Amino acid sequence: MNINSSLLSGYQTLNDIGYLLKNRQRVLLVTDKNIAGIPAVQALIAQIKKKVEQLEIIDSVPPEPTHHNVAEILTTLKNTDVDLVVGVGGGSVLDVAKLLSVLCVEDSPSLDSLLNGEKPTRRTASLLIPTTAGTGSEATPNAILAIPEKETKVGIISPVMLPDYVILAPELTTSMPAHIASSTGIDALCHLIECFTATIANPVSDNYALIGLKKLFASLETTIAEPENLAARLDMLWASYYGGAAIAHSGTHLVHAMSYPLGGKYHIPHGVANAILLAPCMAFVRPAAVTKFAQVYDLLPDANPQLDEEQKSLALVDYFAALVKRLNLPASLDALGIGSEHLPSLVQAALDVQRLMKNVPMSVSADDVREVYLTLFANEKMTQGVN
Ligand SMILES: NC(=O)c1ccc[n+]([C@@H]2O[C@H](COP(=O)([O-])OP(=O)(O)OC[C@H]3O[C@@H](n4cnc5c(N)ncnc54)[C@H](O)[C@@H]3O)[C@@H](O)[C@H]2O)c1
Ligand SMILES: [Fe+2]
Repeated sequence: MNINSSLLSGYQTLNDIGYLLKNRQRVLLVTDKNIAGIPAVQALIAQIKKKVEQLEIIDSVPPEPTHHNVAEILTTLKNTDVDLVVGVGGGSVLDVAKLLSVLCVEDSPSLDSLLNGEKPTRRTASLLIPTTAGTGSEATPNAILAIPEKETKVGIISPVMLPDYVILAPELTTSMPAHIASSTGIDALCHLIECFTATIANPVSDNYALIGLKKLFASLETTIAEPENLAARLDMLWASYYGGAAIAHSGTHLVHAMSYPLGGKYHIPHGVANAILLAPCMAFVRPAAVTKFAQVYDLLPDANPQLDEEQKSLALVDYFAALVKRLNLPASLDALGIGSEHLPSLVQAALDVQRLMKNVPMSVSADDVREVYLTLFANEKMTQGVN
């Protein structure tokens, strides 16, 4: 699968979008209320208004959107006859924008049929501008929707949804509160490390993953310590983009499969659910990926070259656990008010995400999944005991 969007990146590149609007008359801009309030986004909207005949703005996309949210947005659209869909936001907004770029063309499949696996064949032109770093949605063929009736999430997947244009503008991400920059950064980390170790990993996805991991290790914590550091923010946008590109060529596995039920059933934000699962899942898959873990360990800014492969792979898992802690992200499910009585349904829902479970680089039984979830409850009990 090719990632062939035209890509603009860097500070103030939003000023250069005039030529993308050439010959566009009817633009649909998808965002959410937080993002619509960012001054750089308001300037972008003013710029678009000046250039096109008609601009409709949808700013009602909620975090972790459900299929009901998308259906509702479709009913409120004044005009579906648009010639450019612009998504400006985090993964929630970008995924909805990708779906609308498909659903706004004449004779498109309905949302229900997309959910049932029908593949779209075309879409209207699209421009995606991420404000988190992140999901990498701007580089993936996926749109993820929560399905409350099934208490999980599903991916609608088609290369048709890859956008025509992407803009990586670091000034759009400086307003992220630290907990969102941290959790979305961990999501990018999960995409990179899972795609790198998946059964379907390949030289293309490996290269994307290694470039992205190097940038992420160098810059994630800098963005938290220095929120206005645009070079670090841009590095993180690239890490996120490469994570998305790695997904397009490989796939995530255990963290994401076990995270979907946490998002779908308990509405835990995607990056937070992944942060809780990162170290326990990586500890589980490590024996099947020692060499690759050692390769990733060598990208850490303070890697110790004296360690052997086995030691490096173990040290990487420790680094993941320590990173989540340093970023002040929750490391347990108890901390989020989820009791272990929910274990059986969580295990079943995770096993049902076959699309991702088949990418885990070792066989995974229901007992294995249960054991990994259990450590999340045990962690909290240990912490509480210590405190
Ligand atoms: N398509 C994909 O390939 C893919 C991959 C991973 C996750 N996802 C999906 O993406 C969604 C999560 O996206 P996300 O993690 O980017 O978070 P999000 O889009 O849900 O945003 C989280 C919160 O941050 C706010 N926010 C975003 N950018 C901001 C900024 N610059 N300043 C201030 N506030 C800002 C939003 O308003 C929202 O309240 C989930 O639905 C997840 O399943 C999709
Ligand atoms: Fe993700």
